[in-house]
Amino acid sequence: MASVKLSKLEKSYGALRIVKGIDLEISDGEFVVFVGPSGCGKSTTLRMVAGLETITGGEVKIGDRVVNRLAPRERDIAMVFQDYALYPHKTVRENMGFSLKVRGISAGEAAARVDEAANMLGISHLLDRRPGQLSGGQRQRVAMGRAIVRRPQVFLFDEPLSNLDAKLRGQVRTEIKKLHQAIGTTIIYVTHDQVEAMTLADRIVILKGGEIEQVGTPDEVYNKPASVFVGGFVGSPAMNFAKALVQGDDLVFSNGDRIPISALRENCQSGATEGRNVIVGIRPEHFAIGTSSVSLTCDVQVVEPLGSDTLIHFAIGSETLTARMPPETRILAGETLKIAVDPTKIHLFDAQTERAI
Ligand SMILES: Nc1ncnc2c1ncn2[C@@H]1O[C@H](COP(=O)(O)OP(=O)(O)O)[C@@H](O)[C@H]1O
Ligand SMILES: [Mg+2]
Repeated sequence: MASVKLSKLEKSYGALRIVKGIDLEISDGEFVVFVGPSGCGKSTTLRMVAGLETITGGEVKIGDRVVNRLAPRERDIAMVFQDYALYPHKTVRENMGFSLKVRGISAGEAAARVDEAANMLGISHLLDRRPGQLSGGQRQRVAMGRAIVRRPQVFLFDEPLSNLDAKLRGQVRTEIKKLHQAIGTTIIYVTHDQVEAMTLADRIVILKGGEIEQVGTPDEVYNKPASVFVGGFVGSPAMNFAKALVQGDDLVFSNGDRIPISALRENCQSGATEGRNVIVGIRPEHFAIGTSSVSLTCDVQVVEPLGSDTLIHFAIGSETLTARMPPETRILAGETLKIAVDPTKIHLFDAQTERAI
């Protein structure tokens, strides 16, 4: 096992800067998830750690070694991809053991490691099958098994669940977490799926346009998003945003509704200076039916019962927001009503910089 340190890591293709100077220290045994929209540089960053992509600038350190110039096989990492590329004519056992054979590990030792990994992944009964006789989820487990048997210092995962259907994705995700709990090896995991990031990570790295937007625990990025981008990216349904202006003692919304600044959290209060244009962020779960000292006037547009809860989409002036309500909520489209907000859960962002206040 090893720590990983990225220092001013950069990647350009010609004049095109893709990864723009990433600084990150990953502790030994930590599970770090890189998340961000498609094209933000996640795979490129991971591939530089793996040695599959040359490094334009900066440094990658695994343990005590700078690995910039080392070939992938000298870096003591194992990578699991979305597209797992098993050998179709080899059995599961052979697929999992192949890399050990190539590395000159004895047949006995290789067999023991394959058995142990298969056991851990619940695929012992599949060892004599060929990939064509497996389901997608089973194949992905074999691909993980192939990585585990190598006992690398660091596992690298690039969207390993993207080819699986939703139900299977959930199952395999849980298995990856169990696996990390069992073996404790450092993991860097790339995904565009914020649910995967939230559920798996010790720490989440949110990337935007080749730069780190925020690094934090799932709790930190959810409860203290550093920007509108992070607030909108983490959480489902997404955080609501509405423009407002600080006027006197109140935040004033576009429909004229007011929220007293004194009801907000301390850091929001101190940032709410007279005349400041802000973006108010409210999560769907922080609304409730009924008036309280802090409520907004809403025109209900669409009601979506989900069974476990009901989503209410409503307009405040020209902005559309979503509230998550208990399933027994009886509200109809077309109603105008007051929706209460927990003011201590409100986020404020500067309207120009979109950074948290
Ligand atoms: N070989 C390449 N030449 C030029 N641009 C590339 C190359 N590989 C990737 N890119 C660009 O780099 C950006 C980041 O790609 P990638 O790291 O794969 O994003 P992600 O994994 O976050 O979706 C994308 O805009 C992509 O088009
Ligand atoms: Mg990618």
